[in-house]
Amino acid sequence: MVNLRIPGPTPVPVEVAQAGAAPMINHRGPEFAAMAARTTEGVKKVYQTTNDVVTLSASGTGAMEAAVVNLMAPGEEVLVVSIGEFGDRFMNLVKIYGGKLTELKFDPGLAADVNKIEDALKKNPAIKTVFITHNETSTGVTNPILPDLAKVVHARDGGVLIVDAISSLSSVPVKTDEWDLDVVLSGSQKGWMTAPGLAFVSMNERAWAKAAANPQPRFYFDLKRHLDSLKSGQTPWTPAVSVWFQLDKSLELMLAEGLDQIFARHHRLASKVRNGAKAMGLKLLASEGVESDTVTAIRVPEGLNGDEIIKTAIKEYDTVFAGGQGGLKGKIIRFGHLGYVTDSDIDAGLDALKGSLAKVGFKA
Ligand SMILES: Cc1ncc(COP(=O)(O)O)c(C=O)c1O
Repeated sequence: MVNLRIPGPTPVPVEVAQAGAAPMINHRGPEFAAMAARTTEGVKKVYQTTNDVVTLSASGTGAMEAAVVNLMAPGEEVLVVSIGEFGDRFMNLVKIYGGKLTELKFDPGLAADVNKIEDALKKNPAIKTVFITHNETSTGVTNPILPDLAKVVHARDGGVLIVDAISSLSSVPVKTDEWDLDVVLSGSQKGWMTAPGLAFVSMNERAWAKAAANPQPRFYFDLKRHLDSLKSGQTPWTPAVSVWFQLDKSLELMLAEGLDQIFARHHRLASKVRNGAKAMGLKLLASEGVESDTVTAIRVPEGLNGDEIIKTAIKEYDTVFAGGQGGLKGKIIRFGHLGYVTDSDIDAGLDALKGSLAKVGFKA
């Protein structure tokens, strides 16, 4: 069996895979309506919110695009805080949809600094909308500043904070209501133990008010349409029904395990990966204290080839790691530890990493 140690898509439990094989149903019938009501309640529990949450048939990028087209007007001044590739994706989306972008970038491995964000906002009082990635999957860093940042953003009239929590929510705590996050995104193929194909968007009153006043054209991703359809147990367009069956089952498993237990398991296993990598003489990309509990980015030792290590792990150990993206290509190995993951997956992953490094000539 392959040990899929990438940061999504992640392995799914057998019961979840089997749930996806159920016979098709009418997506406009009562069974779907009951399932949509059930999963929406379950997703809200994981989001720790009483806000509306809509489920889109899309990958995580679809949820990001939905956030941009619903919340940002053409020509609007916005701030995107980026600590890596996925923050940069928000910048691209903002530019494509005609926003006036202020960029605030932090070097790979660093978390965002709330004081620098506050300074950037002070320089441009016209900015109302701020985008940030909670867990940057490309660098293995979790931004710890969300509650403070929400206060900074809400201190301005009409301020709205949009958070990509695609690779954190469901694996680590994201307290949507307690932290007062206006829009929060996640995706089924990460910690949710479900196949790719569904994405989630939570919206509070501030976000709905901003969306209602926003003239940006939108159709597939018009979130108000999704909310209105959901009230009658439907989706505006044909949903990814089989993935939805899987989500229904995975939520049952997640809620039975309990959120605190899930978060504790992720923290424990992530620590095991970090300690294991350090014990091999390896260095992490993330600065100390902001390491992600869902993905660890390990620096490729000087003189070695990251692609060769990854190919060796697949060939010799049936273990799949992810490489670096963009400027980090060849420079890091990303070890995923989110969703349906146990001690034995991590132990085998660490053995595969150690063995592959030895085979490509690494000496600590
Ligand atoms: C933090 C983050 N944002 C956005 C995305 C994009 O999601 P998708 O690849 O499902 O479109 C990912 C996927 O890896 C991610 O990890």
